[in-house]
Amino acid sequence: MQTYTLKNANGIELRATNYGGIITSLKTPDADGNMADIVLGFDDLQSYADQSVYFGALIGRYGNRIAEGRFELNGESYQLTVNDGPNHLHGGDRGFHKVVWDAETFEGNGERGIVFTYTSEDGEEGYPGTLQTRVTYTLTDDDELILDYEATTDQATPINLTQHTYFNLAGHDSGDILGHELMIDSDHITPVDETLIPTGELMPVENTAFDFRQATAIGDRIDADHPQIAFGQGYDHNYALNGSGLRLVASVYEPTSGRVLEVLTEEPGVQFYSGNFLAGEAGKGGAVYNIRSGFCLETQHYPDSPNQPNFPSTILEPGDTYQTRTIYKFSAERR
Ligand code: GLA
Repeated sequence: MQTYTLKNANGIELRATNYGGIITSLKTPDADGNMADIVLGFDDLQSYADQSVYFGALIGRYGNRIAEGRFELNGESYQLTVNDGPNHLHGGDRGFHKVVWDAETFEGNGERGIVFTYTSEDGEEGYPGTLQTRVTYTLTDDDELILDYEATTDQATPINLTQHTYFNLAGHDSGDILGHELMIDSDHITPVDETLIPTGELMPVENTAFDFRQATAIGDRIDADHPQIAFGQGYDHNYALNGSGLRLVASVYEPTSGRVLEVLTEEPGVQFYSGNFLAGEAGKGGAVYNIRSGFCLETQHYPDSPNQPNFPSTILEPGDTYQTRTIYKFSAERR
């Protein structure tokens, strides 16, 4: 296993490993120039190998859930690994977060990065086709982390790659994220059933705890009396994003540090997960990660799309190239 360090002109430093493409640390300045590590993680690789929380990980072949791990494609039925109650989650038992990627670094023109490549064999975790995957992490001198995902296949297959980093913009070891102010440019979530599978509908966020169109503290309504909040034990929902193409879809401001995270993506959705299943994980440097001590903004196609005819398609055909970009942009300011 290898660990790679990327550092930009402003001192932002990212560490990642070729095991699961995991981002193990990310140090950025606050509004006074003090650096802190703003991503949750472990000190040792074994803890990442044992984890079921997906800290820092690259997720594939399919981010989020597929109902009962089953789908039909071109008249064939496929059964994927079932690893989350009755469902398939985040690519299965040995998803892309638990494989060893080939990695190469590059540097020049105000950017530096890592290119991860991995061949997922036909039948891996139940998926059809041999999938050639290439994911690039680029850290720019504009304080952006650019995530470029690419894949090709020799048989039609679902694909939905994402990144599962948990952020706490006050510092990974600074308690809960309830004071972070979040904006998501979305009018609808895809509501779920009690096993967190989409019902297929779009639910307007208007007048609900899910409305983040104006920046609102994550904690303000997280315990609202709403059936969707009950299913997620907080926020664990896919937002159908407004607009298309590479655009700003979410932004988070942490008032004590002044740190800001902006999320830009080409994807139609983002899973906003408020860390509801964290349960005292023993983290880096003695940190203890209790419930809601990190949040994820996993850019993606909608969960369970292979079984949802009305959702944007996640099927990659042979001869086509899956290609999608997400950017996490870091800054700090006093508001
Ligand atoms: C995603 C899921 C959550 C949870 C986390 C990992 O965000 O939607 O329900 O499984 O991953 O713990």
